[in-house]
Amino acid sequence: MIDQSTIDRIINTAQIVDVVEDFVSLRKRGVNFIGLCPFHDEKTPSFTVSPAKNICKCFGCGKGGSPVNFIMEHEHMSFHDALRYLAKKYNIEIVEKEVSQEELQKRNDRDSMFILNGFAQNYFSEILWKDDEGRSVGMSYFKERGFQDDIIRKFGLGYSLEKYNALADTAQSKGYKKEFLLKTGLCAERGDGKIADRFRGRVMFPVHSISGKIVAFGGRILKTDEKTAKYVNSPESEIYHKSNELYGIYFAKQSIVKNDCCFLVEGYTDVLSMFQAGIENVVASSGTALTPPQIRLIHRFTSNITVLYDGDAAGIKASIRGIDLLLEEGINVKVVLLPNGEDPDSFAKQQNAVDFIEYINKHQTDFIHFKSQLLLEEAGKDVAKKAHLITDIVQSIAIIPDNIMRSVYIKECAKRFEIGEDVLIAEVNKIRRTSSLKKELKTQTSDYQEYSNSQVSYEAPKTESAVLAKEEKPFAYLQEQNILRCIIRYGKQTLQIQDENGSPITMSVFDFIANDMVADNVSLEYPLHKKIIEEIKVIISDENNDMEHYFLNHPDSEIRKYVFDITTEKYTLSSIHKKYKQFENEGDRLEILIPKILVEYKDKVITHYYDELTKKIKDAQNEGDEETITKLLKQQTELNQIRQILAKHSGERTVLKI
Ligand code: CTP
Ligand code: MN
Repeated sequence: MIDQSTIDRIINTAQIVDVVEDFVSLRKRGVNFIGLCPFHDEKTPSFTVSPAKNICKCFGCGKGGSPVNFIMEHEHMSFHDALRYLAKKYNIEIVEKEVSQEELQKRNDRDSMFILNGFAQNYFSEILWKDDEGRSVGMSYFKERGFQDDIIRKFGLGYSLEKYNALADTAQSKGYKKEFLLKTGLCAERGDGKIADRFRGRVMFPVHSISGKIVAFGGRILKTDEKTAKYVNSPESEIYHKSNELYGIYFAKQSIVKNDCCFLVEGYTDVLSMFQAGIENVVASSGTALTPPQIRLIHRFTSNITVLYDGDAAGIKASIRGIDLLLEEGINVKVVLLPNGEDPDSFAKQQNAVDFIEYINKHQTDFIHFKSQLLLEEAGKDVAKKAHLITDIVQSIAIIPDNIMRSVYIKECAKRFEIGEDVLIAEVNKIRRTSSLKKELKTQTSDYQEYSNSQVSYEAPKTESAVLAKEEKPFAYLQEQNILRCIIRYGKQTLQIQDENGSPITMSVFDFIANDMVADNVSLEYPLHKKIIEEIKVIISDENNDMEHYFLNHPDSEIRKYVFDITTEKYTLSSIHKKYKQFENEGDRLEILIPKILVEYKDKVITHYYDELTKKIKDAQNEGDEETITKLLKQQTELNQIRQILAKHSGERTVLKI
């Protein structure tokens, strides 16, 4: 862990122009710099770098952020790796957080294991290329399967000798410790106290982590022998958690970003063959269903996954369950069924990339369609089965986080199964309500962990309405956002106002807004807004804390991205854009701005209640319920009065105009 004061130093030292210039050629324009956006294809520059704010932003695709953020996005690095990168650039010595002896030991162990795995990979490769047995057995096998030299090299393939302790001996003679041969699982202890190799007489596939370190190996036997398992894999260890790794991700990540899509296949050889055919955005789940950490790994680079299935796979139905997990993470899932008897490996061997891609484009179907087609065939005419199938599909649809996508699917599903749309909607909503409550319980704990790390107390939203609001933004979402933006940006500046007696007092923007909202008994509803406000309450009194800077460098990526987006709306960075000139000095007009955004917000709230009442009145009129109508009309009149008072009051609310 990097020590907090080092983190602060890195963040305060890194200059956005320096950092971006390593990747983008920049031209000065006014107070800012511009260049071609590195995150999307463009011909006219819309990537703007603001030295004053120490951030960058693309007005085409919206990407950018602080120097740390830029490096994270551009280099696909974690927060801490980006900090290390910048530390190196600026020659800042990294002070590691004090760690316990135990932790230190663990870290040393991990490093030793990586070093040993690196050695082993090199050793297996040398044997494949240079040793007699390696060449005649291992290499000739790869050649038979049609793998070319460049692919074999790139993926670091190798061969393990038949001899029971070939690696153990060589490694130990070079000074590698028995302890780590055992810990990595490269070797195992025998009864007689000697150690023996795990992999013997197998072709070797090293498994690279996302940053290219070797965490494990898979070894394939060459004979077709019913008794021995086809693959032997490294065991779980300090550095290898099978469910966190994806075979091929290290080599695929650039291409996944470029194509904004990732192909998902089953095995090592599928990845190699597709890569060789020129399709590089491909990873393998290694024969098991995808896990949430694996999904997140892909999701860092794209939201589109296309799953390739063997034409005859009996496992399709089992893996379908895994796909619901993808939907839940907001990923668009497509499915391609390969011709009967083919797997991606064999199919890629018969095609070049162009044909393969064409096949994929022609045959890829939306996951929901695929699933309903499959189940529909299975159900046949059986009514009970069909009902069951519809429930199943509805469950998949309910998982999709995006409202619009969900409703498109509902429409289609209604057509396909000849069911009323309203029935489906009701069903989907029912599932969503129960599951969002369940999920909330789960996220409360994980949110809490993240927050306790950043040492800010935070109370997770607890009510069901808050949970729903998280997905369906509250009606005053934009107005809330504007208030939050002004607090982050101007919260500590002062306003000259008058109290009831007309005597002048000075108050911070934050206090003014807070008092005003308390007085009218309103508060921000959107959970993320609440979360940020809670944090602001803690840091507001710290004079040295620049809130904008603080949130743009926040450890929670959701908060960091959100604040970046709302504080860099086009007009705020736009002194270069003449047409937005009127907003240029927003901050100089706080005395007008702040009351205005509060009125806009409250007006929105009241209008909302007013509209709701109107609806209720209509319903009551339809039912001819005179009593209710009278009651509601009275309420509406009251609301109108409040609205008038509000307008007048806020005009008066005694901000000294300057
Ligand atoms: N697998 C495994 N252990 C096994 C079988 C399979 O770990 N006993 C994993 C491997 O990662 C393998 C994947 O599941 O790559 C898919 O299995 P399979 O299709 O049988 O292997 P292929 O990669 O297709 O290998 P080959 O083409 O050489 O048979
Ligand atoms: Mn295969």
